[in-house]
Amino acid sequence: MKFFRLFVLASFYLFFSCNAGAQDGPALYQQHCAQCHGADLNGGNATSLVDGIWQFGAEDGYIYRNVKFGISHLGMPSYEKTLNDTEIGAILKYIRGSEKNAGAERPSIVKELETMDYFMNVEVFADKLEIPWAIDFIDASTALITERPGRLRVVKNGVLQKEAVRNTPEVLHEGQGGLLDVAVDPDYSQNGWIYVAYSHALSNVEGAERPPAMTRIVRGKIRDNAWVDQQVLFEAPHETYRTTRHHYGCRIVFDPWGYLYFAIGERGTDIHAQDLARPNGKVHRIYKDGTVPTDNPWFDAENSMPTLYSLGNRNIQGMAIHPETGQLWATEHGPMGGDELNLIEAGKNYGWPVITYGLNYNGSIVSEYTRKPGYEQPVYYWKPSTAVCGLDFYRGDLFKKWKNKLLVGALKYEEVSLLDIEGDRVMHEEVIVKGQGRVRDVSTGPDGAIYVVLNKPDAVIRLTPKLD
Ligand code: HEC
Repeated sequence: MKFFRLFVLASFYLFFSCNAGAQDGPALYQQHCAQCHGADLNGGNATSLVDGIWQFGAEDGYIYRNVKFGISHLGMPSYEKTLNDTEIGAILKYIRGSEKNAGAERPSIVKELETMDYFMNVEVFADKLEIPWAIDFIDASTALITERPGRLRVVKNGVLQKEAVRNTPEVLHEGQGGLLDVAVDPDYSQNGWIYVAYSHALSNVEGAERPPAMTRIVRGKIRDNAWVDQQVLFEAPHETYRTTRHHYGCRIVFDPWGYLYFAIGERGTDIHAQDLARPNGKVHRIYKDGTVPTDNPWFDAENSMPTLYSLGNRNIQGMAIHPETGQLWATEHGPMGGDELNLIEAGKNYGWPVITYGLNYNGSIVSEYTRKPGYEQPVYYWKPSTAVCGLDFYRGDLFKKWKNKLLVGALKYEEVSLLDIEGDRVMHEEVIVKGQGRVRDVSTGPDGAIYVVLNKPDAVIRLTPKLD
């Protein structure tokens, strides 16, 4: 009897303490986190968690993953084995509450930044935008900016025009879809063409839960602030359209020989990146008028798409052509860990999902292989993932020391990296912008300034070197 009573008491105790523990964010925080992040969350051996600055991702999902899987190369332990999801959730709630009490706000955009080579001025070039996605330039006084909900905006002599360009194509603005890249023809002054990539939905197919969609490429001209003379350059076979709403790619670039390249993400089905009959998870090459080059690489499959240039590309979010060699470089999102920089060559297989340096978001493995014969290795990869996005070689004269260096944006880590590239190798990486917002796109302007498209805040900033 006595023994039984003890047992009941013990189980009650266990039940309540576990239960309380699961709810008790502050206690769990003190037990597991305070020694590094400080008893008051203000920092100590590691950063403050209540200053509004999130170096490794500000959204709940990122913070949750940073706690669960750690940031091992910096000494942030993984709590996967110590804390369950409810407990991590309770700590997260406590951190968010404390952040609010501390009045922590994201710091506003800074006025200057320091790098190894330059002090830089930072100006807001355009703001009050809605999810700006890409920027390109018609000439020294005119910039085009896409907004993902489906607007093409014009900045004229530094002033964002109130009215968006009328009659641009109707986009499917859901999930990661919408109006994506914009690219101005290298011969714009002669031909006036502007290219855009966007998520295109079919009308609902009978029996489908929602309209299937895919990335589509068109070109058109702007006359009297309206989109006119549109031509469809690439529209995938409708049976390949997907009802998912993520991983559309897409960037458009031109090489010096008149080819146009664009990339479509795997649209959420990994293995499609290896299926030659499907457009998703690939880089495509066409001519600027949409015709298919006869010298595109040959793929050993009866039904392979004629526009294919490379395969095994998970979700390319940045593409750039090297100003001297004309080579195509691309950044793609890996899963957790394994964001890649690739030198894209004709007919090659970049491996997704057969080889990867990343893990699934639940920590399970995608593939046990990081390399395999027949699959290309990335030139460089980021682990943990910074969420690489937007890419350009610096082509201007203002930052002379950065000529032909590669600018790499990152959404999650909110940074722009400068990569020093020699041949097909990365010699050095320096983060030159940090913590100003999620970086969607980065581009050298005709004036030699560096333009950075941010989300949260939704703005474009302009970087120039401070002259001494
Ligand atoms: C042994 C020390 C240590 C402990 C214990 C620790 N951390 Fe960290 N944590 C770090 C370090 C180091 C970093 C990397 C940033 C830095 O240099 O401070 C970090 C980073 C983080 C970040 C990312 C911050 C950002 O700017 O994006 C979060 C979130 C975080 N820790 C939460 C926690 C939580 C929650 C706990 C407890 C469950 C915890 N940490 C326990 C050392 C620690």
